[in-house]
Order: sequence, then structure tokens, then C-alpha cells
Amino acid sequence: IERTFSIIKPDAVRRNLIGKILTKFEEAGLRPIALKKIHMTRAQAEGFYAVHKERPFFGELVEQMIASPVVVQVLEGEGAILKNREIMGATNPANAAEGTIRKEFALSVGENSVHGSDAPETAAQEIKYFFTDEELVG
Ligand code: GTP
Ligand code: MG
Repeated sequence: IERTFSIIKPDAVRRNLIGKILTKFEEAGLRPIALKKIHMTRAQAEGFYAVHKERPFFGELVEQMIASPVVVQVLEGEGAILKNREIMGATNPANAAEGTIRKEFALSVGENSVHGSDAPETAAQEIKYFFTDEELVG
């Protein structure tokens, strides 16, 4: 059984969409085995998105991630990494398929409501970035 890391981003938390987004995951068979609401520090957000450091949108992305609280969580299920990416939809909501979180809720490519790990290595790394082993109670 696979685990992935997910963030409900500030734009979604601000609009009170935590429950609606969790419902999408649960209905698809993904189980939140750890979750918490946090307000990321700048250092935390910069470290998390270090891979995008040289991109033109890096500064804006960090500002958006620290603007207000997020929900970080670990989702568990069969093929969780890919399944989560499918439920999220395309990065740019303009390209996101019907029924996906980003199609329904995202505001823009920056404020796109959710993050999800893209591979087993990044999932493991991102889970460790925010959670201790003791917090994973699946
Ligand atoms: P994540 O699940 O968040 O990693 O999304 P992704 O894998 O679909 O996208 P990617 O890793 O390429 O980019 C990470 C995040 O950077 C995206 O989720 C967007 O919020 C943000 N991002 C990507 N491109 C742009 C852009 O052109 N402008 C802004 N403001 N943000 C962007
Ligand atoms: Mg990504």
C-alpha cells in the first residue's frame, strides 16, 4: 500500500474548502493517515519548493504558500501517488479535467488549491519534511 504527501493550499483553506477537498480524497479510496493545520514559515516553504528555486514564479509561489495556513497530510491507498495526481487535475486549472479538485476549486496556476507528490522518492522526502514517524498512524 502506497503513501503520498498532500497539501491543501492557502487559497483553499481561506475559502473553507478543507472538508470538500478531503471528501474527494476519501471518496476515491485515499485515507488520510496523518494531517495537521500549520502556517508555514518562509524557510519551510523555500525548503519545500527548493527544486523550483530558479523558476521565475518561485517568489510568488513562496508568498502564496505562507500567506495563510495550510493543511498538510499523508494519504494512503492503492497507487496513492498517481491517484492523488488524478484527483487533483492539471497544475493549471484551465487545463484540469471535469470533476478534479483544481477544475472545481482552483483560482489560478499559482493558487491551485492542492499540492501532491509526483513520485515515490519525492513522496517519501516530502512526508519526512513535515511529519515524524510517530505521527503516521495508518
Ligand atoms: P504541485 O503538486 O504543487 O507540485 O504541482 P505540479 O507538480 O502540478 O506543478 P509543479 O511542480 O510544476 O509546480 C509547483 C507549483 O508551482 C504548482 O502547483 C503551482 O502552484 C506553482 N506554479 C507552477 N507554474 C507556475 C506559474 O507559472 N506561476 C505561478 N504563480 N505558480 C506556478
Ligand atoms: Mg510538482
